Amino acid sequence: MKVLAINGGPHPNGNTAYAISVIAEELKKEGIETEVITIGNKVIHGCLDCGRCFREQDEKCVFEDDIVNEVFQKLKEVDGIILGSPTYSAGMNGVMSTFLDRLFFINIANGNVLRHKVGVAITALRRSGGIPAVNQLSKYLEYSEMVIPTSNYWNVIHGLAPGEAKEDAEGNQIMRILGKNMAWIMKVIEAGKGKVEEPGAEVKVMTNFVR
Ligand SMILES: Cc1cc2nc3c(=O)[nH]c(=O)nc-3n(C[C@H](O)[C@H](O)[C@H](O)COP(=O)(O)O)c2cc1C
Repeated sequence: MKVLAINGGPHPNGNTAYAISVIAEELKKEGIETEVITIGNKVIHGCLDCGRCFREQDEKCVFEDDIVNEVFQKLKEVDGIILGSPTYSAGMNGVMSTFLDRLFFINIANGNVLRHKVGVAITALRRSGGIPAVNQLSKYLEYSEMVIPTSNYWNVIHGLAPGEAKEDAEGNQIMRILGKNMAWIMKVIEAGKGKVEEPGAEVKVMTNFVR
């Protein structure tokens, strides 16, 4: 089995990357491989609300010159995802926000390939605002019918300079337990395939509060 981890921040060796590595280490012990993509050091367009993804349904966003379309193809191959972001101004970082808006719209427009896959959301931060950041990230998992494992506290780890998060013992335990629970749930889902019937997908009902 395989997991795709998105590091929304700009530092491939920063605190978000470190938190992802703690989770990945636990996944590895259970035979699950993790690929990490760092996006915060890249230029990523914001969603134009042009509607192309829903109109064409060809697994593509109108923007072809950044990595969003490429990452969507990877979502199809994996069994789970990790959404990791540094906390910026008590939320996820800006690049991650534009990236996820577009990635998850392509996903929903093209049959929701993430449905019943496993997803976790984590953040690294200096002091405050981690919970709203995790809540923001979790919203994408929640509207995609993903299965969300938990830990023994909310999924934050503390540190300012890259690498400082290694010293946050409680944050390390949170990520370690999250990794163990993620691996376990992935294995339970895998073991249930062909044995426990999956509920079928429903056609989305959309009401816009005006009709
Ligand atoms: C623009 C910006 C905004 C930030 N806002 C917050 C914040 O609201 N709360 C906080 O605790 N830390 C904040 N930080 C600190 C980072 O969250 C912290 O350094 C984090 O460990 C960085 O993770 P990284 O190494 O993966 O980039 C901010 C940092 C930057 C650059």
